[in-house]
Amino acid sequence: MSDEFVSVAELSKLGPGKLLRIVVDGHAYMLANVDGTVFATDDMCTHEDASLSTGALHGDCVSCPLHGSRFNVRTGEPSEEPAEKALQTYETQVIGDDIRLRLG
Ligand code: FES
Repeated sequence: MSDEFVSVAELSKLGPGKLLRIVVDGHAYMLANVDGTVFATDDMCTHEDASLSTGALHGDCVSCPLHGSRFNVRTGEPSEEPAEKALQTYETQVIGDDIRLRLG
């Protein structure tokens, strides 16, 4: 996988307070817009198989739709059980309407 930033989505499709699931090379990522700043993590919950982008974003925390674990999208750290393992986070870059991720 590339260590460079790659374009993955358009900012106009990810308003503040929204989540978006994207798939790059077969891997699912979640994008979160927190007051205009875009953060990226893995989309799969670290507890079981649930897509976090179908959960809800409250401030900078996403809640899992399956069992309610909450993760900080800035750090990936869980703040509510049952999940105990942090999400992988990814560096983001926004240029105009272009959201880019560093996937390496
Ligand atoms: S699958 Fe996310 S908390 Fe259980």
